[in-house]
Amino acid sequence: MSAQVWTLMQLLRWTTDFFKQHGLLTARLDAEVLLGHVLCMPRIDLYLAFDQPVSEDDRARYRELVRARAKQRVPVAYLTGQREFWSLPFSVAPDVLIPRPETESLVRAALEIAPRRIAEVGVGSGCVSAVLARELPDARLVAGDVSESALELARSNLEALELAERVELYRSDLLSELPGEFDLVVANPPYVPSAQIDTLEPEVRQEPRLALDGGPDGLSVVRRLIEEAPPRLARPGALALELGEGQAEEASRLARESGAERVETRPDLRGVERVLVAHY
Ligand SMILES: C[S@@+](CC[C@H](N)C(=O)[O-])C[C@H]1O[C@@H](n2cnc3c(N)ncnc32)[C@H](O)[C@@H]1O
Repeated sequence: MSAQVWTLMQLLRWTTDFFKQHGLLTARLDAEVLLGHVLCMPRIDLYLAFDQPVSEDDRARYRELVRARAKQRVPVAYLTGQREFWSLPFSVAPDVLIPRPETESLVRAALEIAPRRIAEVGVGSGCVSAVLARELPDARLVAGDVSESALELARSNLEALELAERVELYRSDLLSELPGEFDLVVANPPYVPSAQIDTLEPEVRQEPRLALDGGPDGLSVVRRLIEEAPPRLARPGALALELGEGQAEEASRLARESGAERVETRPDLRGVERVLVAHY
């Protein structure tokens, strides 16, 4: 990226090659998202401006992001500070998990229940509660997290989406500080077995350990939730949980043991049994 004139297309080609050399699997996409961010352009508009030159200032800002992406493997969402979920924009920062597409399966399962009183455990960026509040206009939501910085970010995301009035936020270990009785308790808990965390992609390892670490077998928080949620549920009531790969059988067994009348699991788009819904 020297002092010559660089068009958008040249810059994208150069960066895509650079990312590929560094082993990034989504090289072109990452190059486009980061350039779109620097130029304040929707990604699709880059294609209409391929021949335009990129100013020295913009190139300098882009260079910093490209370097952080390639050399430190900083996730694109942390570099842009944004990630879409359910086609809505969410601010993200290294204090919170980056919303994942598979969590949309959890949201779909929750929406089918059409609950009116909802508690979310582990609100993170606020993506799950925000979508539920938006899609269920009659629902009342309370949501908690042990992380103060996650709660701050969730608050600002809910405000930006004009949903802050609909979701009460609490600093809470699981359900302990969340007031009321619920038709649905929903959570995307930390579920990665502790020993696996160091084997994950470098990008994932930059996300908060608190959001990932599910204890020795990954099920520590799941187990506690299956124990603590049923007494807080109305009847009928449901517990909906996102799970890690290979956890559906054991989590279903625990849910049946806790008195669930019916337990179902749902696959994500990759066919992994990703969501457990236990009906009480
Ligand atoms: C996997 S992240 C999910 C974030 C967000 N709901 C999402 O789906 O993107 C798990 C969240 O649970 C929070 N958490 C971890 N242990 C907790 C606990 N004991 N009580 C409440 N929240 C907890 C973490 O701080 C993190 O924000």
